[in-house]
Amino acid sequence: MSNRMWGGRFASGPAAIMEEINASIDFDKRLASQDIRGSLAHAEMLGKTGILDKSDVEAIQGGLKAVQAEIEAGSFTFSRALEDIHMNVESRLKDLVGPAAGRLHTARSRNDQVATDMKLWVRDTIDGLDEQLADLQLALAEKALEFAGAVMPGFTHLQSAQPVTFGHHLLAYVEMVARDRGRLADARRRLNECPLGAAALAGTSFPIDRAFTAGLLGFDRPTANSLDSVSDRDFALETLSAAAICAVHLSRFAEEIVLWTSAQFGFVRLSDAFSTGSSIMPQKRNPDAAELVRGKSGRILGALMGLLVVMKGLPLTYSKDMQEDKEGVFDALQSLSLCIAAMSGMVRDMEPDVKRLKRWAGAGYATATDLADWLVRVLEMPFRDAHHVTGRLVGLASARDIGLEKLTLAEMQEVEPRITDEVFAVLGVERSVKSRTSYGGTAPANVRGQAKRWIGRLQKE
Ligand code: ARG
Repeated sequence: MSNRMWGGRFASGPAAIMEEINASIDFDKRLASQDIRGSLAHAEMLGKTGILDKSDVEAIQGGLKAVQAEIEAGSFTFSRALEDIHMNVESRLKDLVGPAAGRLHTARSRNDQVATDMKLWVRDTIDGLDEQLADLQLALAEKALEFAGAVMPGFTHLQSAQPVTFGHHLLAYVEMVARDRGRLADARRRLNECPLGAAALAGTSFPIDRAFTAGLLGFDRPTANSLDSVSDRDFALETLSAAAICAVHLSRFAEEIVLWTSAQFGFVRLSDAFSTGSSIMPQKRNPDAAELVRGKSGRILGALMGLLVVMKGLPLTYSKDMQEDKEGVFDALQSLSLCIAAMSGMVRDMEPDVKRLKRWAGAGYATATDLADWLVRVLEMPFRDAHHVTGRLVGLASARDIGLEKLTLAEMQEVEPRITDEVFAVLGVERSVKSRTSYGGTAPANVRGQAKRWIGRLQKE
């Protein structure tokens, strides 16, 4: 059978393999409600401008709503022979309302239609992700407030560096997520121009009102160049790149959760609700959700790379290659949503082992910088000299496998005679974190203030 949409030019139908490689309905059926929204607005505009009679517009819009209802009820039959969501919807519309359906495609092409549908879908999805990310921030900030003063080891190079607090560590992710939200919001702002009316590539001779359609669909304005409208997917690329960076942040946190829940670290515990067991090793409590957040970042990054490569060699304007944008975008953004939800769940669930965190906070000579700072402050030593003296003291303690605070005053004075026993006060981890009061530093009072500021801000959103 030749095609219902372009059968005029064709005597026979496609080869089976042609249909198989060409059809996108298996995945673009997810665009059904966006497609129908776009068609409702287009029909409204065609009526308003007098391009179509009111009676045709009413028939078309009634029919589109009926199609939407069938899709929602699960009674709609999607057909591969009809290639994609656009032609599936239009064909069913024709069954339902007859010849009026054939007028809907006036001054429109699938090229501007699919760009519009994708933008609507990506925009809807960004809005959902933003809400989820705000919730993750709230979960982090609330836990940070609860553990604002819980001392833990801070690392650089995964080596003990300086003591910090658990709350401070969590607030680091609140900041990262804030930037992730900012990037998604930027992408949303830039994508919010309506391609509908660009038609196939050159615009149309019908007296359409593109600003009207754009307004109906919640876009800020119509796109300004018809060629650009149907040929670019940078809105998808930009959203994917924001998603990829966000996924990288979540993956790093997930990696920390994996480390922290190990017997060797033992920094936090996840409840049964967020742990899985082993079929052979009875002692196991595996952090599978964290591992999957880490793992799923791979497909999100892959989707960005995949679409960049699809786009990079395409001449203007639309090429069918661009149909390959969909599965990656759908999968990546849906995976990200799942990862954010799992992360929020884990954050609310996790219980830090405060005693153990504190014990390890001092390990590895983590207060050596406090000692050096003390030499600078009290003995007015230049920092480089203080660094040297402290290094010698650390060497002494480490040769005997003891902490700095276990050295006697006499032993310290052999390295630097002016040291007094006041120095012992700065060797404690609590004292160390309390002293880090510089803006953005780890002092519990700072952390409490920042956590409260975030909670207040997030609750107002
Ligand atoms: N299914 C197509 C896509 O997703 C719709 C646009 C088709 N346009 C065309 N000229 N064949 O890209």
